[in-house]
Amino acid sequence: MQENKETSTSELFYPSDEIIQNANIKEYDSLYQYSIENREKFWEEQAESLEWYKKWDQVLDSSNKPFYKWFVGAETNIIHNAIDRHLKTWRKNKLAIIWEGEPGDVKTYSYHGLNREVCKFANVLKSMGVKKGDIVTIYMPQIPELVIAMLAVVKIGAAHSVVYGGFSSESLASRIQDAKSKVLITADGGWRRGKITDLKKIANEAMSRSATIQSCITVRRTSQEVYMESGRDYWYHDLANHPVASNKCETEVMSSEDMLFILYTSGTTGKPKGLVHTHGGYSLYTSVTHKYIFDIKDDDRWWCAADPGWITGHSYLVYGPLINGTTIMMYEGAPNYPYPNRWWQIIEKYGVTVLYTSPTAIRGLMRFGEQWPERHDLSSLRLLGSVGEPINPEAWKWYHKVIGKEKCPIMDTWWQTETGGAMLSPLPITPLKPGSATKPFFGNELAVVDEAGNEVKPNEEGKLVIKAPWPGMARTILGDDQRYVDTYWNDYKAQGWYKAGDSAKVDQDGYFWVIGRIDDVIKVSGYRLGTAEIESALVSHPAISEAAAIGLPHELKGNAIHTYVILRNGFVGSEKLESELKEHVASEMGKFALPEKINFVEQLPKTRSGKIMRRVLKARALGQDEGDTSTLEE
Ligand code: WT7
Repeated sequence: MQENKETSTSELFYPSDEIIQNANIKEYDSLYQYSIENREKFWEEQAESLEWYKKWDQVLDSSNKPFYKWFVGAETNIIHNAIDRHLKTWRKNKLAIIWEGEPGDVKTYSYHGLNREVCKFANVLKSMGVKKGDIVTIYMPQIPELVIAMLAVVKIGAAHSVVYGGFSSESLASRIQDAKSKVLITADGGWRRGKITDLKKIANEAMSRSATIQSCITVRRTSQEVYMESGRDYWYHDLANHPVASNKCETEVMSSEDMLFILYTSGTTGKPKGLVHTHGGYSLYTSVTHKYIFDIKDDDRWWCAADPGWITGHSYLVYGPLINGTTIMMYEGAPNYPYPNRWWQIIEKYGVTVLYTSPTAIRGLMRFGEQWPERHDLSSLRLLGSVGEPINPEAWKWYHKVIGKEKCPIMDTWWQTETGGAMLSPLPITPLKPGSATKPFFGNELAVVDEAGNEVKPNEEGKLVIKAPWPGMARTILGDDQRYVDTYWNDYKAQGWYKAGDSAKVDQDGYFWVIGRIDDVIKVSGYRLGTAEIESALVSHPAISEAAAIGLPHELKGNAIHTYVILRNGFVGSEKLESELKEHVASEMGKFALPEKINFVEQLPKTRSGKIMRRVLKARALGQDEGDTSTLEE
């Protein structure tokens, strides 16, 4: 866990007068106070920034807690606000997407052009039988067609489930099955570090295990040879060249609470959770947070360097920025390919004004030294952002000084797949403390509490909770309402609070410091992994009878995966077996889950009821006090 040791002693960084004068929001305290005292009114006023086919009868329906409903009775489609309404204005000819492939190829789309491509893709999906309410799985590299496919699915009233292109066939198959997708959209591969990825091959393996799949649409990106099964697999360009794929397509009218997408994330059990987000509230929450936190103006060139396959990409690469009519930068490949200046080159070349990335990426680029960014003119930047894990003050300061030239405030945004958008974040006018996500966004009340729900004292560690509903919140877990209640709402049931699963502190100035996960989730390079998923990948190997996984601090990754395994009879621990097991986990889950270390052990610390005490393993590995071990079986 990345510990923030410097909490209250930390120095303050003040934004310049110029930034304050130009900011979309010039004062925080009074608007914040207003927003929590008049929560529904506040969101209702903000909702005027969007167009609705039909307005709501009720802003918030709390009659069936925790299944909140926002903008009940309203009709909309996120596509109407993300694309259609811009076509009626000068933004029709504004750039929507500037995309650069890893090999250096470039594609650009105006809002007009994006609409044309989305309509065409939408008609292709219709011709494949996709209907309102279906869930279409998307497994693609970072190419514009990924965004176009997402928007096309939503335009015709279906919902997408984007599975990050780094996931294994196993993970893809389990997600397809859970969503019961009939259609999969993929590509023949993508570029990563000068090599072509095997996306279609992995997709084929996954489809062979997915009974619901009827057809697969493949976008040509790399032109490598891929296996296409007749009757199931279609090239996108063949379908798109067919006369049914016209450039015109009506946007389906949806009700505010209709499903927009599901996105799987890791939790305490091995089964991934498909979090459900809906049209109305999510449209509002992503666009408002994007506009105010990142101070978005019409002449911005916005670059969220996350993959669209994660929530950051959904909310702040695709939906929030498009709703705000922003020009989006998108890049396919690795940050250090072919050289460690690739990102800085992109910022200079396209005049990027706001960069939003993760602490892991910053630490990774920092490692190559200042000479790489210093070769480039980064003066177009006016604001920076960070997300995904706590940012250590050293990385914060490097980002601030070397990339931001001490003139770009850093928006350290804390949020989750479940929250839909940023919950804790500075605004450009907020005095900053390196490593703190500062304060709640408008409308939100957060607190750090003990088990009983009492607020802990300043600078004391406790559990992070959210005290009131917000429009961007996930509505449930697909097909498992009970798990949604149990996971997030049961710990503070009496109070009706949402448990984030993170530990945090609030300092004497009311600044929040998120320390890290306190459940069985590990954040590795910003990726969210469940210990149960890693453990079940390990025990699926013939040599392993039992396994435990924990996260230990790692300089670049934030946390790295350390595992403890008990071998089956007849197997002996060796370096060779260790690397075989590491590879096995990577192939079961995806390369990002590669364990740092496999420890061969005789025993695992367990409670008398047989639960592995990962906390004890962690304390031992760090040479710390093991805490209360009274339940430990000997
Ligand atoms: C977990 C959620 C939200 C987009 C990406 C992650 C950690 C996220 C921060 C931050 C400290 C952070 C938390 C959270 N996290 N942002 N600014 N400071 N920790 O979404 O994969 O659902 O992970 O990421 O532990 O619970 P996610």
